[in-house]
Amino acid sequence: MKDLKIVLIIGIIFLVLIVAAVVFERLKAERAEAGLLPGTPYNLVTTFKGDAATSRAFTWYTEDAAAAGRLEVVKGENASFDGTSVIRVQAEDTTIKTDAGKRGVHKAEVSGLEPDTVYTYRAGSGEDGEWSAAASFTTAEADTDEVTFINVTDSQGITAADFAVWGRTLNKAFETFPAAQFIVHNGDFTEEAEDSSAWNSFFSNVDSLVTRIPLMPVTGNHDEVDEQAAEFTSHFNVPDNGAKGSIAGTSYSFDYGAVHVTVLNTESNLKKQTEWLKKDLASTDKAWKIVAMHRPAYGGNTYKKLDDWVELFDKYKVDLVLQGHNHEYSRSYPLLDGKVVTEKQRSAGAVRGTVYVVTNASGNKFNEKKEDQFYHAVHFQNNMAMFAGITISGKVLSYQAYDVDGNKLDEFTLTH
Ligand SMILES: [Fe+2]
Repeated sequence: MKDLKIVLIIGIIFLVLIVAAVVFERLKAERAEAGLLPGTPYNLVTTFKGDAATSRAFTWYTEDAAAAGRLEVVKGENASFDGTSVIRVQAEDTTIKTDAGKRGVHKAEVSGLEPDTVYTYRAGSGEDGEWSAAASFTTAEADTDEVTFINVTDSQGITAADFAVWGRTLNKAFETFPAAQFIVHNGDFTEEAEDSSAWNSFFSNVDSLVTRIPLMPVTGNHDEVDEQAAEFTSHFNVPDNGAKGSIAGTSYSFDYGAVHVTVLNTESNLKKQTEWLKKDLASTDKAWKIVAMHRPAYGGNTYKKLDDWVELFDKYKVDLVLQGHNHEYSRSYPLLDGKVVTEKQRSAGAVRGTVYVVTNASGNKFNEKKEDQFYHAVHFQNNMAMFAGITISGKVLSYQAYDVDGNKLDEFTLTH
């Protein structure tokens, strides 16, 4: 009798354990399906860090601050991660204190890739169920002079509705320019850089794009406040070739084919960046020089503190300066030495000048239109989120600006 009791008790314990294990596994599977396991990546975004033709960088967050970060990359589309040809990379794992608690920050880079080739990757902790969905990307064609990219600025949202507008803007941009190879975002990603739910909304609305297409960030005044930009820089794995004295990740430059893009930080360390900018522009042999910065040298208004930079844009013949901050649309005539370059001068081929644009905002916040200035070729406030598609084809750069509904509102070409 006593033995039977013991057997029964053991049996019940065994049964309870089995049920508990089944329930635990099911819950784990459900959480994994919803991407909720603590080591599962979220806010996953790809960027250029090294050579765009042979490498790619990635950043993601995990709820588990102690989670490991692993990246797996394999040649081809829809390829399997089981084979021997999988490239496995360990991420650099750090943590950040957010308003929702401590989070894991994982930055990884894969190099040694073949140019103009499709790869599939996934990021995760290495544990079952803690991988991102697989996504594919294409490396840049080496030395291509056919380049298309998207420019957006000031998504600057607070609410989910604000970021839904941002999502619609970027999706419309890729509907309009499906071949775009990267995105330049000119700063002010969120209204408050410490607002982690805003960052989550920022990424979740463009997830299917920015996990494949590099999003190159510019630092805005809402991204760096009082010379603090950790919430911003922790989201992006960008080239570490920037100015000494600047917060890492806020000034840098990169090349894509025939295009050299210099990203400046208008929020701090302007003087030291001037030195760096000079070296950066002097050392590139790329045919097209584009600068991206948040506060405009020539936007709805001017920012005199940037005069030293403008001098260098003139000296090194920067073609185009992408700007943000004003939340209105503004496009300058080609400018040189603070004056409009006339059509006659341009057609004579002696001077080209530099064009300065602000492509309104890509979110839901608009400013009253500022007064027209002598340098404005086009200047308006349509209170609509906008984006620009910039296409370089050999000696011609074409810039086209659209609203979120897909109406083309401005275009111009620059010729070398
Ligand atoms: Fe802004």
